[in-house]
Amino acid sequence: MKARGRSSSSGVDLHGKKILLIVTGGIAAYKSAHLVRLLVRSGGEVRVVLTASASEFVTPLTFEVLSGNPVPAGLFAPRSEPGVRHVELATWAQRILVAPATADFLAKAAHGLADDLASTVLLAARCPVILAPAMNEGMWQNPAVRRNIDVLRGDGKHFIEPGSGALACGESGSGRMAEPEEIVRTLLSSFEPGDLAGVRFLISAGRTEEDIDPVRYLSNRSSGRMGFALAAEAKRRGAHITLVHGPVDVEPPDVDACTRVRNAARMKAALSKAFPRCNVLIMAAAVADFTPVTRADAKIRRVEGNLSLELKPTPDILAILGARKKKEQVVVGFALETGGGGRFANEKARRKACDYLVLNRVGERTGFSVETNQISVFKDGRKVLATGIVSKEEAAAAIIGQLAADVRLRRMKR
Ligand code: CTP
Repeated sequence: MKARGRSSSSGVDLHGKKILLIVTGGIAAYKSAHLVRLLVRSGGEVRVVLTASASEFVTPLTFEVLSGNPVPAGLFAPRSEPGVRHVELATWAQRILVAPATADFLAKAAHGLADDLASTVLLAARCPVILAPAMNEGMWQNPAVRRNIDVLRGDGKHFIEPGSGALACGESGSGRMAEPEEIVRTLLSSFEPGDLAGVRFLISAGRTEEDIDPVRYLSNRSSGRMGFALAAEAKRRGAHITLVHGPVDVEPPDVDACTRVRNAARMKAALSKAFPRCNVLIMAAAVADFTPVTRADAKIRRVEGNLSLELKPTPDILAILGARKKKEQVVVGFALETGGGGRFANEKARRKACDYLVLNRVGERTGFSVETNQISVFKDGRKVLATGIVSKEEAAAAIIGQLAADVRLRRMKR
């Protein structure tokens, strides 16, 4: 973002918004001074809490001058100060930002520890909390840190993933705090949850299972995470969500209607029924491409020699619904990239009449059954979005953000 963090693309700014910034002890704390500046410039009323180690990096005075508000010295207020300091701050704030959030602070927050003002305010918080972690790459990848992040996500906390680049330890890698401009952008968008209000999304997720006999089936490794993250993000932005999902490894998010199916034929039936009433179809499900020609009624017994299984193609749901699409409907398909790249993506988008095609990279940390992804989005033969390796939630936010800007959706919202 080149702009100085004044307002979001939809014109929201921070006037009248109360932001509590918690700065914890990492070198990225120097960037938090700039962050306060951007928040104040965007119209926000900002109060800052520093942990003891944060004030080793940047003094409270810096934040007092930039925010125009006193920085409290600790958990215990002098008797002359009215109210209970941590409760007063927690009820005052409309958003709590933690930037940088150190590994230590994440661990404390995940376990509900409250031994200083910062951790106590967080525990007393009633508003959305957004954390921007910063640490060395080894720490960022550490299973203990990942566990704490999962716990905090499960508690409804939002994360702004760190970026990659030079780290203070001299190494280069992921763990670098997101730039202040990106943090402001995320904060602004958190104040516009209703920007997709009135838009009806139909989203498929998970895998399908194609029965061979009563005990065996053909399937794939899709976990359902990507489709669910898309549904959660569109819901967060106010859209009406109908979810149709196959078998998955995770709990579906809270949406307006949710149908569970097992195989491609059932998924086609459920989606076909809901499709005419939707504004946007996102086919994130990994539908099996083939299904057995016949399903044996009894368990197939072991035989001498090889056994051949005759398969037939499943209905291509995306292509079928893409062909039925009305002009004002938006259809989004997914493709798995194993090396081919954009050329195949564009060909697939044309063949299946998709407005957008999301290319999913398959790798060790991307694609099926992992929690991160690397995606590119194609529209009219052009790449309009590409992410690095990010969490599926981040990828979903990028995809939904792209769709929200689609002129047809903008018209629907009016
Ligand atoms: N899809 C579908 N019905 C099918 C198979 C796939 O609707 N029977 C949808 C998927 O939900 C996804 C897209 O089509 O949106 C994926 O297309 P597919 O041709 O399966 O692509 P890839 O998985 O990328 O692989 P390949 O082209 O190699 O088959």
